[in-house]
Amino acid sequence: MELYNVEKGTGDMQSQCSTGMSCAEPNTLVAWYKQYRRALPWRKTKDPYRILVSETMLQQTRVETVIPYYRAFLERFPSVFALAKANEADVLKMWQGLGYYSRARNLQRLAQEVVDRHEGRIPNDESRLCELPGVGEYTCGAVMSIAFDAPVPAVDGNVLRVMTRYLGIHLPIDKSSVRRQVRDVVAAWLQHVSPALLTQALMELGALVCVPRNPKCTDCPLREGCVAKRDSLTDVLPVKPKKKPRKLVDVFALWLETEQGVLVKQRPNEGLLAGLWQLPAAERDTGEYEDSSAEIGRILDILMKELTYGSGTFEAVAEQAASYGASHSDPIGAQNELWDADATPQLGEVMIGEERHIFSHIEWRVRVYRPISMNKACRIALASCIMGDTGPYRWVPRDELGKLAWPRVYEKLLSSLTGLPI
Ligand code: ADE
Ligand code: SF4
Repeated sequence: MELYNVEKGTGDMQSQCSTGMSCAEPNTLVAWYKQYRRALPWRKTKDPYRILVSETMLQQTRVETVIPYYRAFLERFPSVFALAKANEADVLKMWQGLGYYSRARNLQRLAQEVVDRHEGRIPNDESRLCELPGVGEYTCGAVMSIAFDAPVPAVDGNVLRVMTRYLGIHLPIDKSSVRRQVRDVVAAWLQHVSPALLTQALMELGALVCVPRNPKCTDCPLREGCVAKRDSLTDVLPVKPKKKPRKLVDVFALWLETEQGVLVKQRPNEGLLAGLWQLPAAERDTGEYEDSSAEIGRILDILMKELTYGSGTFEAVAEQAASYGASHSDPIGAQNELWDADATPQLGEVMIGEERHIFSHIEWRVRVYRPISMNKACRIALASCIMGDTGPYRWVPRDELGKLAWPRVYEKLLSSLTGLPI
């Protein structure tokens, strides 16, 4: 067999399966799968809702990590109806630690659409399924094949690795032509066996045998026809996409605690870690500021001023403070202090925690600072401006911080800062 080169169009991408010749691979794979598969919780069910939850969690996340989340999530939200009517905050809380939180929001929106438009049943046809929120080509194929036993390919990273090795494809795996060729071959194979079994067999092979480093080719059901094995290319294939270097971001967070609790902020509903909670913070791309204590002090000063006085004037803040009850506006009995427009709200600060977190494109270094002491005007402004249950800020008592959903990096920081489980 020639090495297959998609760009030059050499080689024969038609699988033997689709040309009516012998079609050993899918049968061999399924036989192998039946013997060696792991007993995973989502393999005990055909319920499309449960399959959908598992496949959504398994994107970008390892099986061992997913198992406890899968169990807890389904105990809490055992049906699309339960998920559709849940509080979003509870859904996010059950997802806390899995990352990629838009998956959780989309899953809930999907449940709501399924209840509103499909009488609570996950659609069993490809076009209606893939219109639902968060359902891309992979998820659609996984649910169609695993839950409904329909011949729709599900090509994830594992399957791409197995198939580019097997077929000897020397192009970067993020190219759409590569994915398309792999899909075509898998689609042909799916015609010959149970799609539910073959889809999972390919994933399982990628997880157990055709692993990224040192694949166990001698134990592999595909070893007979595998180009990478034949030509000793398992260290070369799959060809990885060229990676952009990760952007480094420094996050300067403030620990502000008064008798009302700790000041926390909800992230916007879009973007990275959407809807999760964090400490009030300023972000700077590393390299875009001078890494000196004076510069960091300046960044924190700006943040404190924004928090205390917002974009309004001191007079506006004072008026707002006066309009609240004394217990809110004047927690330290200083309502009549003169405002000093030039005063720094805080007298320096100390760093009390630091954690790093790596996302796919970004690396965060989060440092938490506590003001050494805040002036009275600052305390009043903080207490009075940031109140109520609307807007992104809340004062939350220490022992209630664990009720909110936090990014993993804050979870670590807060549990070490408070000594409480978060
Ligand atoms: N990765 C994605 N889907 C999977 C599944 N159903 N079983 C094991 N690993 C997976
Ligand atoms: Fe992967 Fe080796 Fe099997 Fe080829 S023979 S599919 S490289 S494990």
